[in-house]
Amino acid sequence: MKLLVIGSGAREHALAWKLAQSEQVEEVVVSPGNGGTAREPGCRNAPGSNVGQWLGLAQREDVDLTVVGPENPLADGLVDTFRAAGFPVVGPTRAAAQLESSKDFAKAFMTRHGIPTAPYATFTDAAAAHAYLDAQGAPIVVKADGLAAGKGVVVAQTVAEAHAAIDAMLADDLLGSAGSRVVIEGFLSGEEASFIVVAHGEQVVAFASSQDHKRLKDGDEGPNTGGMGAYSPAPVVTPELHQRAMDEVIRPALRGMVEEGMPFTGFLYAGLMIGADGSIGVLEFNCRMGDPETQPILMRYAGDFAALMQHAAHGTLDEAFPEWDPRPALGVVLAAAGYPESPRKGDAITGLPADGDRLHVFHAGTALGEDEVLRTSGGRVLTVTALGDDVADAARRAYAGAEGIDFEGRQMRRDIGHRALGRG
Ligand code: AMP
Ligand code: GLY
Repeated sequence: MKLLVIGSGAREHALAWKLAQSEQVEEVVVSPGNGGTAREPGCRNAPGSNVGQWLGLAQREDVDLTVVGPENPLADGLVDTFRAAGFPVVGPTRAAAQLESSKDFAKAFMTRHGIPTAPYATFTDAAAAHAYLDAQGAPIVVKADGLAAGKGVVVAQTVAEAHAAIDAMLADDLLGSAGSRVVIEGFLSGEEASFIVVAHGEQVVAFASSQDHKRLKDGDEGPNTGGMGAYSPAPVVTPELHQRAMDEVIRPALRGMVEEGMPFTGFLYAGLMIGADGSIGVLEFNCRMGDPETQPILMRYAGDFAALMQHAAHGTLDEAFPEWDPRPALGVVLAAAGYPESPRKGDAITGLPADGDRLHVFHAGTALGEDEVLRTSGGRVLTVTALGDDVADAARRAYAGAEGIDFEGRQMRRDIGHRALGRG
């Protein structure tokens, strides 16, 4: 089989690496890919940046199966276009991708189907939003309705912060059309976990749980980022909680999408807040795998991932046999100088450790020049990911690999895994 992976992050490098290990796979084409997928055995990069170009690529390369990494191509209708042209693909249609591309759609959907989430209201009018806010008080959360690349959520501790967020989105138009509608929702406290499944209608296979570290700095301080590190499994997701997440969130969501005439196909990611009382609240749905969560999750996948993806594309997930390595995995992100506001590009990267059974460096913002020198080319540069005998061992191995990697202005958190380690 020849496979196509769409995207250019460390998530897509991990997907391509895992798929290339399958005996049935001859080659994985990654579009556009990065400096890591350019050198990964069994993988090759090909240019592409919109649905039309990717369809042309699939036709030229005659690919058997396509796996989509990021959300934007899904919201742009890649899956609809590929299916219409007869190309099997793992991902939701444009309609089903609204679970991520519109927070208002997701909240209304959860309300219709009794899925636990914070109370909310949606506004296009700034004055009405300000009045609602004054009635509710703080802490409170203001979210842009549309896709905003992680910049659309303000968790406001004070009413003044929330008023400013509303003005930035609705009055000053700082997020463009993504922020022309805002969702204001109640603040949930607890511990977050990423709960990811792959589905086809009501058929579903759950992945191992994981936990992300969204803030730039140690101790969960500094600005929000796409994610500075992750590990799997998340201890907060006990077997009992896993079952409840399936029963209270995932199955009702999949059933609801079928009932509403837009069956969900592909990866469904529920961002969960687990309260101290054991309650589950859904913070968000994403219609893709998480980044960096995918890197440790796939380090632990012990089965034939290409076979699982074929079952997902063809609606035979009931016949799939997912297999997991019981050992935990942990990934540390190395980010460029200036990330997240204005990442610097073009710095030479040295000291990459050799990949092995227990360590793999997944690339994101890297580019391999004509001179074969690897340079930074984006905000998050690498995820150094390791399998360990326990979380502490996985962290030791990942940091040992990360420590030797050097580029100008490298940013790295030192405390990835602290929640799991703190449970001791
Ligand atoms: P989202 O993109 O909707 O997941 O929001 C990004 C981050 O904001 C989440 O990972 C949480 O840390 C935080 N967040 C979002 N919604 C809430 C909420 N209702 N209560 C508390 N924190 C939230
Ligand atoms: N790491 C969070 C996300 O992928 O949305």
